[in-house]
Amino acid sequence: MTILITGGAGFIGSNFVMEWMDHIDELVINIDLLTYAGNLSNLENLSSSSKYHFVHGDIADLDLMRSVFFNYKPRAVINFAAESHVDRSIAGPTDFINTNIVGTFNFLQSAKYYYDSLPDASKDQFRFIHVSTDEVYGSLMPQDPPFTEQNRYAPNSPYSASKAASDHLVRAWYHTYGLPVITTNCSNNYGPYHFPEKLIPLVIVNALAERTLPIYGDGLQIRDWLYVKDHCSAIRRVLASGRLGETYNIGGWNEITNIDIVKTICLILDELRPRSNGSSYTSLITFVEDRPGHDRRYAIDARKIESELGWKPTETFSTGIRKTVQWYLDNQDWVQNVQSGAYRDWVDQQYGVSQ
Ligand code: NAD
Ligand code: DAU
Repeated sequence: MTILITGGAGFIGSNFVMEWMDHIDELVINIDLLTYAGNLSNLENLSSSSKYHFVHGDIADLDLMRSVFFNYKPRAVINFAAESHVDRSIAGPTDFINTNIVGTFNFLQSAKYYYDSLPDASKDQFRFIHVSTDEVYGSLMPQDPPFTEQNRYAPNSPYSASKAASDHLVRAWYHTYGLPVITTNCSNNYGPYHFPEKLIPLVIVNALAERTLPIYGDGLQIRDWLYVKDHCSAIRRVLASGRLGETYNIGGWNEITNIDIVKTICLILDELRPRSNGSSYTSLITFVEDRPGHDRRYAIDARKIESELGWKPTETFSTGIRKTVQWYLDNQDWVQNVQSGAYRDWVDQQYGVSQ
């Protein structure tokens, strides 16, 4: 038995691959383009495992994807590969259109071509899980109820629009061609191996380097935070028991303002790694210009996955954020490797050219 993961060298994908291999004895194929966000050192413990195989490639590459499908004959696919950072999508949307929309389209075509060739028994088992985001639902007002699976799509950034488009393609491949898909829409993840361009790792890394902690606008925007390993367990549950053609919202019931997130991290660091000058890391907080089109509030109603599939998160925000800060303190080499770009040197050496 084999499962095919795309984007497995990124933040959630690499956590997923490690979690999967801890729980399930099955060959894992990881396809990743190794963009700036892909870091194979996240998975270096697996590099000698006979149960893990890495393929360097683009989900938009029809020939390569078809050959991977037919060589490895996966029983399931989990599609994490994407451009994922909202600020980058504002500065330059092209890669987001290419990977999140065209890439998903080509990957669906490759999956369909393979699926159509399967005998009926294998067809019944096959699953295509598409990993998406709560940002497709747009922004909530303070009094609005959390997003359910019935909310209409109202994306506001190039990133969320490209993910919304990919979700629509996935849905259409189910309804039109019968490809057995399930889509998940998750809230903000945090945890180990999070690239320090996103709020939580950026704040931890900047604080430890005595750099300012930039808060966009008034810092009162709200996100609903989920520890990454809880997202991984939710995807495993969806793969095992989710209903075909359905979507499942995944979230941690942790609505927190950005300023409170940053202050919480500062207070944990004050305790675990006090500054030499004796003052709190909170003195590094700096309010900066807001993100254009900044969504004010996201919140997930996770009752469908809880009641249908029996999934619940195991971490509260206070346990998860403490583990996360401790992980960054314990893994300064990983941080330096990412910040210096040294992980890219290996990509150049192995694959010739940086993507
Ligand atoms: P990430 O940016 O850390 O990783 C993305 C990975 O995809 C990288 O390894 C990158 O090299 C790879 N990739 C990019 N383009 C590719 C292509 N064309 N072909 C093959 N590989 C490619 O992202 P992440 O935070 O781990 O997010 C993973 C998925 O989960 C994304 O689809 C994202 O939209 C979704 N998601 C993320 C969050 C979050 O909070 N991070 C929340 C909900 C949903
Ligand atoms: O909601 C799920 C989404 O969460 C995922 O789909 C995205 O892939 C993921 O990147 C994340 O998007 P956000 O834009 O919410 O995450 P980010 O960490 O970039 O920002 C979190 C909040 O913090 C947001 O309101 C913007 C703010 N922020 C961010 C940065 C990087 C700051 O105030 N300062 C910063 O420097």
